[in-house]
Amino acid sequence: MKDGGRFGLCMAIEGVVATALLLGCSEGEDEPIDGVFTPAEWEAVQALSPLPELEPDPYNRYADDPAAAALGQKLFFETRYSGALGDDNACSDCGAVGAPGETGLMGCAYCHQPPSFTDRRSSPDNTSLGVKWATRNTPSLVNVAYYTWYGWAGKQDSLFTQAAGSPESGTNSKGTRLGYAHMLWDHYRGEYDAIFDEPLPDALDPAHPEADRFPASGNPKASVDDPDGAWELMTSQDQEAINRVVANQGKAVAAYERLLVSRDAPFDRYVAGELDAISTSAKRGARLFVGKAGCVECHEGPTFSDNDFHNTGVPQVGEHVAALDEGRYGDVPKLLGHTWNTSSPFSDDALSGKLDGVHQDEADIGKFRTKQLRNVADSAPYFHTGDAKTLRDVVEFYNAGGAEDGYSGVKDDLMVPLNLGEDELDDLVAFLESLTGAPLPAELTTAPPLP
Ligand code: HEC
Ligand code: HEC
Repeated sequence: MKDGGRFGLCMAIEGVVATALLLGCSEGEDEPIDGVFTPAEWEAVQALSPLPELEPDPYNRYADDPAAAALGQKLFFETRYSGALGDDNACSDCGAVGAPGETGLMGCAYCHQPPSFTDRRSSPDNTSLGVKWATRNTPSLVNVAYYTWYGWAGKQDSLFTQAAGSPESGTNSKGTRLGYAHMLWDHYRGEYDAIFDEPLPDALDPAHPEADRFPASGNPKASVDDPDGAWELMTSQDQEAINRVVANQGKAVAAYERLLVSRDAPFDRYVAGELDAISTSAKRGARLFVGKAGCVECHEGPTFSDNDFHNTGVPQVGEHVAALDEGRYGDVPKLLGHTWNTSSPFSDDALSGKLDGVHQDEADIGKFRTKQLRNVADSAPYFHTGDAKTLRDVVEFYNAGGAEDGYSGVKDDLMVPLNLGEDELDDLVAFLESLTGAPLPAELTTAPPLP
């Protein structure tokens, strides 16, 4: 222990009376706190717990509406908007989703499988097989609402932005926004109209005299040079109406995702004063995490993420992984051009200024968002490539200071060899394993009956 003695030590944990008592502050000598931490380390550990309540979501006024969340949960398990499965969907031991060309089969829950909301179906499982192979690993959705940027490199700036765009993503479900709106009309009209201010447009009804205003399927054309399609022939008011419908379904799905919160991990109980809630190895791991290993420099606060972007030198290796992934640098233009971003007309706080100053910056080449680490033991494989199969692989990666090549851009200064011994690596893994919170309630992790 450094200077300060028992007095300094007990001052550092002042305010946590129960803990102070448990740790023997009323007696004893200059012992490290719980035999492990200096006062400064203990303070740093305390900053990691507990997980606070979610902040309100200014961009989604339905974010905390239970009826929206109930609809969102159904839409999460919905597949009837999906486009054709690709030819490359041969996958030896993937649960069969369907034959190439089949439609209406792929949805969120195939890649984000409850209860961990990761993909344990695709093989290999480093990235996921949607209508075609994705080039990045499927992240867990547990505690996802605590992020401020979405996707591995911040391609979206709110949860509803992600959920609005996802159904027509070419790797996920490859649906179309018109097809999605018709699917809602066919199966969810009453539920939708009861939640949102504007009802679904009547002309989505195929029997409506103006039904041809809304073709069965269509998206904006991919490039200005392409010929106009069904979407371009619509009036701008009708396009706006469909975009609003798709935004609203995204807000419903986001309301559901906000409920996927897991807290009260053994580590939290330990910080709250339950001294035997985690092993001595996990305690030593916590000390390394906030100290010598430097993890907390990026994985900070109770979510274990600074919500910022860093280049940790994760190499672009693994089946289906893109040869080049420029991370934040590559994703910023997609974010700024996103139909449903937070400054779009579909955001409920379009003037928030969240995107002010965001621009494509070469300094961001190869940067990815710091992952949250709660429940991380449940979401193997790791990194945006899914290349690290176990937490042990992850800590070995950090111990080596990241990869030497195979990634874009310049590695962060913090990514240097850590010179940790085998036991210390085990301790870090034990610590990461102590971050698994209480399971989500079964009613949130099972598919509700679909209309
Ligand atoms: C093909 C499998 C697949 C399907 C289907 C899919 N996702 Fe994902 N999801 C991914 C991958 C891969 C990423 C990471 C994307 C990236 O970083 O570019 C992701 C990212 C996300 C994120 C951001 C998570 C984070 O950590 O920031 C959310 C939220 C999400 N998906 C929700 C959904 C919803 C809602 C649906 C259905 C509308 C859906 N996903 C469909 C694979 C899938
Ligand atoms: C310079 C910032 C930084 C430091 C320091 C750092 N990390 Fe990370 N961490 C990240 C980023 C960024 C990612 C996502 C990387 C990617 O996939 O490209 C990540 C990913 C992870 C993952 C994978 C999570 C998942 O779901 O895939 C784990 C586990 C992890 N870090 C643990 C640690 C540990 C343990 C340490 C200390 C030894 C540490 N990190 C140090 C920024 C950092």
